[in-house]
Amino acid sequence: MVKCDIKDKSLAPKGKLRIEWADNQMPVLKMIRERFAKEKPLAGKKMSCCLHVTTETANLIRTLKEGGADIVLCASNPLSTQDDVAASLVMDYGVPVYAIKGEDRDTYYKHLLAAIEHGPDMTQDDGCDLVGLLHKNYSDTYLKNVIGGTEETTTGVIRLKSMEKDNALKIPIVAVNESDTKHLFDNRYGTGQSTLDGLLRATNILLAGKNFVVCGYGWCGKGLAMRAKGMGANVTVTEVDPIKAIEAVMEGFRVMKLEDAMSIADIIITVTGDLNVIDEKHIKLAKDGVVIANSGHFNDEINITAIDALSASKRTVRDFVEEYTMKDGRMLFLLAEGRLLNLSAAEGHPAVVMDMSFANQALGAEYIVRNAGTMDSKVYLLPVEVDQEIARLKLASMGISIDVLTEEQVTYLSSWQSGT
Ligand code: NAI
Repeated sequence: MVKCDIKDKSLAPKGKLRIEWADNQMPVLKMIRERFAKEKPLAGKKMSCCLHVTTETANLIRTLKEGGADIVLCASNPLSTQDDVAASLVMDYGVPVYAIKGEDRDTYYKHLLAAIEHGPDMTQDDGCDLVGLLHKNYSDTYLKNVIGGTEETTTGVIRLKSMEKDNALKIPIVAVNESDTKHLFDNRYGTGQSTLDGLLRATNILLAGKNFVVCGYGWCGKGLAMRAKGMGANVTVTEVDPIKAIEAVMEGFRVMKLEDAMSIADIIITVTGDLNVIDEKHIKLAKDGVVIANSGHFNDEINITAIDALSASKRTVRDFVEEYTMKDGRMLFLLAEGRLLNLSAAEGHPAVVMDMSFANQALGAEYIVRNAGTMDSKVYLLPVEVDQEIARLKLASMGISIDVLTEEQVTYLSSWQSGT
């Protein structure tokens, strides 16, 4: 019997079909899985993985397992689990999973603990909750055996870098998010499309002609703004970084302070990784009927306590849609409890893009095993050669060939003497 805490094992057949559907769109990961099956680079390694339990993650877990790893998987967010996928991982692939969509805070932490009690040699994290907990409560016990880990997202990398700065980080971490084949595609095109998918599935509203505000013009924000514009919305960007703000201006977006955008905004989505981006002062200025959501990692970007305090009543009007009636009579709609919209109300990023992210995860795990003992307790990037190889394999899987430098061009580009 595989140990687990999931919603319903009978959902496994549906989950298996969906995992296979995603696998068809993950050729790079499949190639890595085939190599891992022969070479077993992770043989004997216990891994605790804290990731969004999606179809794409299931294919990553299958890859790590083929590589010889002994894995326990828990959710990296209370709302992002796909219960049928969790069931299939347990029933069809024999992977212990601790994840239930909609789990409360206590259950979320109980599941993290189950992953920690697996006694990992390695970790895979998305948002640094697992590694953070290991450092906070288990530094004298479970953390000691960990040779390293990988981190999937921007917010997790920011936390880990801050741990490194404070000399608090005790294990090497490969920051998968920093690979070009991760953030340039997953954060931009993945979040861009899947956040709109979550918005549309939750609300079924028309985007054309709407005033759509994107808070944060980083990799995720760029993708979201671009796709919302493509569907006919009038997009406004808010930023705190002057360079990102100019980029948004030159891309043709309106840029202003969030306070100034509130009275016109029909839809506001945060993707900053920051705290209380939509705060009490903004909520007071919000247009009647505004839809508010977040696609950043934590549900900290919208001050929900302030919304509660300013409202007279609330009710759930659709799945993932909370309708607030404010004390002054205005209506406000909050989606997915302020948790990442794309993974709560839709299925997260399409498999095609997660193919590259999870190729980085699999190769990151292999890198840690290969370099164990020589790595310091720091945040590492995967070597650029690995990044380029993933891109090469992805292009090949798309049937696209590109030019290669001639000997003459190599010499020219590396010389300061040639040319006129
Ligand atoms: P990034 O660092 O590229 O961009 C964040 C941007 O937000 C920066 O330009 C920053 O200046 C801006 N910002 C910070 N505070 C702000 C404020 N108060 N108002 C306006 N702008 C502000 O980060 P990235 O990669 O775009 O990620 C953003 C968040 O999304 C992170 O929490 C990340 O973990 C998460 N993420 C979510 C995904 C999903 O599937 N929903 C996928 C990938 C990342």
